[in-house]
Amino acid sequence: MKQNYSLTNNSTMDSIASSVLKHRFERERADACLMALRAGIKPDAWQSDLLRSSAKQMILLCSRQSGKSTITSIVGLHTALYQENSLVLLLSPSLRQSQELFKKLKDFYNAIQTPLLPQPVEESSLRIEFSNGSRVVSLPGTEQTVRGFSGVALLIIDEASIVEDALYQSVRPMIATSNGRVILLSTPRGKRGFFHDVWTNGGHDWHRTRITADQCPRISAEWLENERKTIPDFWYRQEFECQFVETADQLFNFEDIQAMLSDDVKPLFPEETKNYNATY
Ligand SMILES: Nc1ncnc2c1ncn2[C@@H]1O[C@H](COP(=O)(O)OP(=O)(O)OP(=O)(O)O)[C@@H](O)[C@H]1O
Ligand SMILES: [Mg+2]
Repeated sequence: MKQNYSLTNNSTMDSIASSVLKHRFERERADACLMALRAGIKPDAWQSDLLRSSAKQMILLCSRQSGKSTITSIVGLHTALYQENSLVLLLSPSLRQSQELFKKLKDFYNAIQTPLLPQPVEESSLRIEFSNGSRVVSLPGTEQTVRGFSGVALLIIDEASIVEDALYQSVRPMIATSNGRVILLSTPRGKRGFFHDVWTNGGHDWHRTRITADQCPRISAEWLENERKTIPDFWYRQEFECQFVETADQLFNFEDIQAMLSDDVKPLFPEETKNYNATY
């Protein structure tokens, strides 16, 4: 039987290809998991939840090498590409960690880049600005380096358990006016600091994710078993089981110290206490 075929010309093909691509980007805008897949990362279940969450405040208590920096860098990239004029601030405790986190984000951008996405207009080793007006800035965390930023759409603090409390307090106002989001991610480091405090006392305002090493499909049970035999117990529980443990050289444990403190007891020397507070 004779069939009727109509030949499409090149410009029709171009416009079909372009609308297919536009459709793909609209789907990636709505679902960051699709963008992650195109960047070569098939997200674990908890990573998909994070990519799809719209929670304003998120805290990730995760084992070493579970993929927390990878996935938050994709959240950061997605925000910068799809939220025009947004400022994404990546904070890490050291310059090396800032460089690593920024490199992850940049590598993912390079992997998915096409002319339809916003293009880099200015770039340095710790900063990129896109043609849609968005910026990603990665900083090693000291109060001096972070001063001067405001209107932050997304604040990501990597290795948050070793970031100074004073720094956290000074960056939080940066998301106030922009109604921005914050993601804290870390392996625990003792029962102290804002990361521990938010995890334990942050209340319902925080979306919590806890991923131990045995939940990570890329860390084998054999490897973990060997590690358990090799490193000190407290270190294993901290690094791979996400426990807020006391440090090895700590004389008293956290609960004992807490139990010794009471607001009901008046200081013996109130004047001296006042001076002490004023000095320190
Ligand atoms: N869903 C995934 N699929 C494949 N590889 C992944 C996935 N998530 C993370 N990875 C890989 O796992 C490794 C560890 O990831 P990442 O550096 O993000 O972990 P981390 O939890 O931040 O580790 P660390 O505690 O050392 O900072 C990297 O090589 C990363 O590419
Ligand atoms: Mg990391």
